[in-house]
Amino acid sequence: MKELFPVYSKNKDLVYLDSAASSLKPKAVIDAINDYYLNYSVNIERGVYKLALDATKRVEESRENIAKFINANPEEVIFTRGASNSLNMVALMLKRILHEGDEVIVSELEHHSSFLPWLDVKREKNIKLVFVPLTKEGKITVENFKSVLSSKTKAVCLTHVSNVLGYKTDVKEIVKLAHEVGAIVSIDGAQAIPHERVDVKELDVDFYSFSFHKMCGPTGLGILYGKKKILNSLDPVEFGGEMNDEVSKDSVTYKALPYKFETGTIPIAEIFGANATIDFLNEIGMDYIGKRGLELRNMALKELLKLKEIEVYNGSEESSVIAFNIKGVHSHDLVTALAEENVAVRAGHHCAEPLHRFLGLSATTRASFYFYNDECDVSKFIDAVKKTISFFKEVHYID
Ligand code: ALA
Repeated sequence: MKELFPVYSKNKDLVYLDSAASSLKPKAVIDAINDYYLNYSVNIERGVYKLALDATKRVEESRENIAKFINANPEEVIFTRGASNSLNMVALMLKRILHEGDEVIVSELEHHSSFLPWLDVKREKNIKLVFVPLTKEGKITVENFKSVLSSKTKAVCLTHVSNVLGYKTDVKEIVKLAHEVGAIVSIDGAQAIPHERVDVKELDVDFYSFSFHKMCGPTGLGILYGKKKILNSLDPVEFGGEMNDEVSKDSVTYKALPYKFETGTIPIAEIFGANATIDFLNEIGMDYIGKRGLELRNMALKELLKLKEIEVYNGSEESSVIAFNIKGVHSHDLVTALAEENVAVRAGHHCAEPLHRFLGLSATTRASFYFYNDECDVSKFIDAVKKTISFFKEVHYID
C-alpha cells in the first residue's frame, strides 16, 4: 500500500501516525492536480473557449462523483476551502434566522472549528449555547443529548467523530430527535468520512462538513453538504464573482444551487484532485479502509496497555486514534523524543481545548492510524515509546 504514496519513497523510515491531522496523498491524486496545471490551467464557469469548457466539465464531474460518494444530489455539494470554512458558513447562515434566547446544542467534544463560530454567534445574537453533558470518558450519548433537547433548540452542531478520542456520535438517532423539535442539525464530519462510508440521506443530516486533506485528497478543499430545501431558504454569507445572476446599484439576485454559495475562483486543481481521491477511496474500499485503521490501532493499543508508565485516555473505544501520555511526561516532550525515532504523532490540545479542560488534562499525545500504515509501523512506534520511557527513567525524570 505504501508504494501508492510518493512521500514514503523519500522518507523510507517514516512512521506516520498523524493522519488525523492530515493524511498522506497518493500519486493518483497528485497526478490529477498536476493534470489541471499542465493541461488546463484556465478558469472555469466563465470562458466559452474549449479549454474553459472542458475544465468546467471536469469540475462538475468531480462534484457528481463526490455527491455519489455521500449519497447527495450534486447541487447540494458546495465546494469550500475546508471543513473549518464549511462550519463557519453554517453558523453565519443560521445566525440570520436565530433570535435572542434561541438555543443551539453543542458539546465540549468539539474541535474549535465546530465550536468557535457558535461562540461568536452567541456574542452577537445573545443565543444560548447548551452543552450535551459528556459521559465521564468524554462521549456524547443519545440519552445525554435528550436531556438538553427542548422546544427552544433551534440548531444542533456536533462532531461525528472526535478528533482527540475518536468517539463516534450516534448521528442518526440525534438527527431524528432534533427534527422532532424542528431543529436544524449540522455535523462536523472531518474525522469520520476518512474512515467510513457516510450516507447523508440515511443520516438525514441538514448540513455535513468535511475536508479532503484528511481523506487522501488535496489541501485547501472542503465540502459543505446541505439539504436542498434548507440551502434554498438561506442566503449566502460570502459574496463575489460568479455567484450572482443580476447586480444593480442596490440589488442582487443569486444563482441557483450550488453556485450561490461558491464565491470567486474556486480551488480548481484541488477539485480535479478530489475526483481522483473519490476514485481512489472507492477502489481501495471504505470497508477495508475503516477496518484496517482500526486493526492496526488496536494492535498498538494492546502493546501500549502493557506498559505501566503509559496512560491511555480512550482505551476501550473502537476508533483509529490512541490518546495517551507517559505518566509524568509532557506530551510535547514525548512527541519530540518520538520524532527522533522518525515517529510522527501529534501533541497538545489538538484544537479541542474545552475537551482537555473536561478531561482535566493540559495536553494529550495522539497517534492516529490509517489504512496505509502496517504492522512494521506499529512495532516501530511501540519500540520508540519504550525507548522514550527508558530515556526519561535514565535521566530520573520519571521513576
Ligand atoms: N484538525 C486536525 C487535527 O485534529 C488538524 O489534528
